[in-house]
Amino acid sequence: MEKSMVMDRLELGVCYYPEHWDESLWRDDLRRMAAHGIHTVRVFEFAWNLVQPENDRYDFSFFDRFLELAAGENMRVILCTPTATPPAWLTEAYPEALNRTRDGKLMHHGHRRHYTYHSPAYNTYVRKLVKAMGKHYGSHPAVIGWQIDNELNCEIDEFYADVDHTAFRAYLRERFRTLDAFNDAIGARFWNQTYSDWSEVHLERHTPHGQGNPHLALLSKAFFSAGAIAFARMQSDILRQYTKNQFITTNGIFGHLDNHTLTQTALDFMMYDSYPNFAYAQQADLDKDGLRDRKWSMQLSRVRALSPNFGVMEQQAGANGWDFSMLSPMPLPGQIRLWTMQSVGHGADYISYFRWRTAPYGTEIYWHGLNDYDNRPNRRLAEVAQIHTEFKRLAEVAGSRYEAKLAVLTDYLNEWDGERDRWHGPMNRESVTAIFAAAQHTHTPLDFINLNAVENADSLARYAVVFYPHAAILTDDTAEILKAYCEQGGTVVMGARTGYKDVYGRCPMRPMPGPASALCGVTVGEYSLAHSLRPLELDWEGTRFAAPGFAETLEPLEETQPIATFAAQQQEEAVAMTCKPYPGGGAAYYVGSGFSEALVTALLHKLRAAQPFEVLVQCPPEVELCVRRKGDTRYLFLLNYTDREQRVEGKTPLINMLSGEELEGRIALPPFGVTVLRAGA
Ligand code: GAL
Repeated sequence: MEKSMVMDRLELGVCYYPEHWDESLWRDDLRRMAAHGIHTVRVFEFAWNLVQPENDRYDFSFFDRFLELAAGENMRVILCTPTATPPAWLTEAYPEALNRTRDGKLMHHGHRRHYTYHSPAYNTYVRKLVKAMGKHYGSHPAVIGWQIDNELNCEIDEFYADVDHTAFRAYLRERFRTLDAFNDAIGARFWNQTYSDWSEVHLERHTPHGQGNPHLALLSKAFFSAGAIAFARMQSDILRQYTKNQFITTNGIFGHLDNHTLTQTALDFMMYDSYPNFAYAQQADLDKDGLRDRKWSMQLSRVRALSPNFGVMEQQAGANGWDFSMLSPMPLPGQIRLWTMQSVGHGADYISYFRWRTAPYGTEIYWHGLNDYDNRPNRRLAEVAQIHTEFKRLAEVAGSRYEAKLAVLTDYLNEWDGERDRWHGPMNRESVTAIFAAAQHTHTPLDFINLNAVENADSLARYAVVFYPHAAILTDDTAEILKAYCEQGGTVVMGARTGYKDVYGRCPMRPMPGPASALCGVTVGEYSLAHSLRPLELDWEGTRFAAPGFAETLEPLEETQPIATFAAQQQEEAVAMTCKPYPGGGAAYYVGSGFSEALVTALLHKLRAAQPFEVLVQCPPEVELCVRRKGDTRYLFLLNYTDREQRVEGKTPLINMLSGEELEGRIALPPFGVTVLRAGA
């Protein structure tokens, strides 16, 4: 079911914490927001104590006053359930609500996200609070929607309190029914790990080397995910009983969480928190691939896979920084606008900045809002005023859809298994980045699509090419769907380590690539992690490409064609890439290694998938092109992430929507500049 945010124009909002300020500031703040084109505020995020100062006493007077004022100023409000920060009185009374590390250390009061979803006592309090809030504000005229919790599974995405161990046992019993089936699923015979009673079973705990049974580790991630979803679902089920015409969302997307099931079962749509300034963080090694802030487009594309039109609940408004970590500089002039338009280019129709004013105390004193501590006009606010003017010119873009013919298929089991398994996880992450970078640099719009959203071959029909780079865990059902997609004319590209594991992460006795063997018409002969003494390259029609990560020598079956060999000394003439053609124009490619950007670029050209919009514009690699489409009209977002001017070539008459002028030929994009062009009707 489609889960999009429905807007009839592009809108601005902001995150506001009325409890951080003297009430005498509220009216002025709201008026200045409106003067900058901001007409929605998100509040109540961590303010539990204010409405429930002690057990069984609710007092909504503080937020009643704020909402009354907001309504009077025509401000729309998104309310958060403040469940990411339990009050001290609650966790003192019920320490079972506190999470523990894998090693058993208790997480005390004093930060946030220190609770666990599986505490019965915590759930009781959350249920009562959410019900009280829903009843009180469910038909408040100023309230347009709700955010559940804050960033479920951010910072902490593992739970090892006593209540979690207990809940894990219940989860496993429900899933496996018998202890024998569970022991078998986790390969318990290895190193004598067999359990003889359910009470012996735990989530991973401290072990020699810190890592326990790998199959149990994979099951525990599915369990963490299920817990977060049930927690969100509990809240949204309650809110739905009391709310009228108010949406329910949350601000994702984080680890050990099946965000698709979360969105489908608990939300109206997903929202995202976009902080591209992390790319400039002091301590981070985030620029390995040279994409810097442009890499946030990958995250935005993943959100789009959940909600084709979404909102950004927290958009970068200033420097990042907790007092002790994540320090990064102030955005340079133009970067707030650039990152805002990056979000819009990828499908966001609502942009809310984090936050109105920089926190005057606490951990986030360096996480800057639009206003500095001094509250005087500044260039960041001026940039938002400009964005507001431009949003009015771009109003019709709302509801248009990002247009991609190329997709990367992903799934949670491989993601979770690959966090730990070094024989596919790191290579997959590098290959996905290489595919993304190749798509970016060739201006080939790319979608991520999750297996959860793939019911049958029709779910993939809108794509000409689908990469599923290293699906170590692959089921027969998925292979069948991909085969049907190739039979309908689609092209699938798979890489090394495909199909050698089952859903528990075990390696069954069968030729590799398992279920992909028939799909790609290939079996794997020798295989090895890349060897530092024998760096591998592919030789494809005389051109050499790096073959990172892994080497599988391929044995083509029947009509499958060998199309590249390993060029290294080690395996002379060993087949490294194959293509199985399907009648009707489809094909299944198999590459016996990881993917480098150069190899993906060559493949995109060979498959005629690269640069689908070159008849409209030609851009240098430094510029990102996003295309949104409504009917016959296309909106081309040109984003310059560099601090140098870039030139784009218009190949057809285009309208510059920001200036209204008609353009053809050379278009100059200033440093960090953005242009939005309209093509077609
Ligand atoms: C987000 C979070 C906000 C704020 C911000 C800056 O992850 O949702 O509450 O903490 O980061 O750290």
